[in-house]
Amino acid sequence: MSGDGDVSVIVGASSGVGRSLALALAREGRRVGLVGRSEERLSRVAREVTMFGGEPLVALSDVRDPASIRAALAQITLRGWHVETAFLSSGITEGTDLQNFSAAALDAILQTNVVGVANWLEALQPLLRAQPGGGTVAVLSSLSARRAVPGGSANYSASKAAVSQLCDGLRAPWARQGIRLVTVEFGFVRTPMTARMERLPLLMEPEDAAGAILDGLRRGQPVIRFPRLAALTMNALRLLPAGWLDRLYRGSDPGVETPHGPGNELPGYSSGAESPSGAEE
Ligand SMILES: NC(=O)c1ccc[n+]([C@@H]2O[C@H](COP(=O)([O-])OP(=O)(O)OC[C@H]3O[C@@H](n4cnc5c(N)ncnc54)[C@H](OP(=O)(O)O)[C@@H]3O)[C@@H](O)[C@H]2O)c1
Repeated sequence: MSGDGDVSVIVGASSGVGRSLALALAREGRRVGLVGRSEERLSRVAREVTMFGGEPLVALSDVRDPASIRAALAQITLRGWHVETAFLSSGITEGTDLQNFSAAALDAILQTNVVGVANWLEALQPLLRAQPGGGTVAVLSSLSARRAVPGGSANYSASKAAVSQLCDGLRAPWARQGIRLVTVEFGFVRTPMTARMERLPLLMEPEDAAGAILDGLRRGQPVIRFPRLAALTMNALRLLPAGWLDRLYRGSDPGVETPHGPGNELPGYSSGAESPSGAEE
């Protein structure tokens, strides 16, 4: 993250971790491309970026629409700017309906969280490969990619597992092309996404999450996981036989059942509450 003509592109910059990344980079006097769907929300972040000493550029784009992604990237690169790092921070979560499973609900999450990321990867690959010195893509996944637990976060965990697996498969081949692909898996952060969820262990502030991501990138980590205790817990859960988790679920207190299933107390999992950012505009 250096150089006069460099820009960091943040997809999903209008709130949460994306906004905090933008402000952290602004404090270092950097140029940031703020990408998302809402001009009003992005303009608000752009004003903050300017206040903190950065140089913002707002580009409207929906991750589900490849043409809008190409247009956003063109808006940035036509200025002659070199995309040094792209942070893919867009994402939604909605509870999985455990009584009436809906393929359409799963598809809606996959379109944003998986195909949306893939659309950006498709657009970024030729651009970064052609740039002198290549570039970096940081994909924001979740610790919930590590192990799905029974309950209302099934769809979300499935989407994040797909994203993490995709990055694992592409990382080494893309490195040969000069592109550094970094997976970021983390636990609960206080953002609009988690605003309506209850019981969020090891909850972090978005500024701390942004700091951990930038720190991991500067250390050259291929996969960034935090907070440490949550990451260790998820490692342990991966080793747990599936039947054990199922038994824990069957023995859980039905009093904590939500319309989407029981609240989830494991770090990095949503309890199934609907996200404001998940609502269609
Ligand atoms: N918060 C957590 O506890 C947590 C934990 C682990 C991982 N994560 C992951 O971290 C990332 C950031 O989450 P957050 O908590 O910061 O959420 P957030 O505050 O709700 O922000 C989500 C961002 O995604 C953007 N977005 C959603 N759908 C989009 C679309 N179709 N096209 C373009 N942009 C879209 C939103 O922008 P607009 O709606 O303004 O367009 C918003 O800027 C997500 O991938 C999330 O899954 C979050």
